[in-house]
Amino acid sequence: MRIAAVHGPNLNLLGLREPDVYGRQTLDDVNAALSALAAELGAEVEWHQSNHEGALVDFVQQAAPRVDGFVVNAGAYTHTSIALRDALAGVARPYVEVHISNVFARERFRHRSYLAAGSVGVVSGFGVNSYRLGLRALVDYLRESA
Ligand code: DQA
Repeated sequence: MRIAAVHGPNLNLLGLREPDVYGRQTLDDVNAALSALAAELGAEVEWHQSNHEGALVDFVQQAAPRVDGFVVNAGAYTHTSIALRDALAGVARPYVEVHISNVFARERFRHRSYLAAGSVGVVSGFGVNSYRLGLRALVDYLRESA
């Protein structure tokens, strides 16, 4: 089983960016934690980060044939991107939406997600552990639906 993690805009700044909201761990730390958990679960993980909406769409389209599902933190594009929603719907791979912060406890504009309705589920507010919870939930879901 192979999973791709999709990291949207500004997540390359993890560790430096608003540490009171997003913590001190870097994106490399997140990816290392995902790899370690994937190995534990008997899965493989790859990842991609971009600050560009179209590049995220390209990645979803290109990765889909080789992966069983996606763990997606689309950052701010969560709240704006019909293109990313359509890409994920178009490739027909299950995905879990994740957020480091609890978006529902923040500004109103973060309460709307264009991706959530098409997802298996949403994990939000557990710090970088949201990614691990999301990966575990997706692997469970894929195994149960196999
Ligand atoms: C985020 C929440 C988004 O609202 C924000 O734009 C981000 C990060 C999170 O992981 O908590 O960039 O997706």
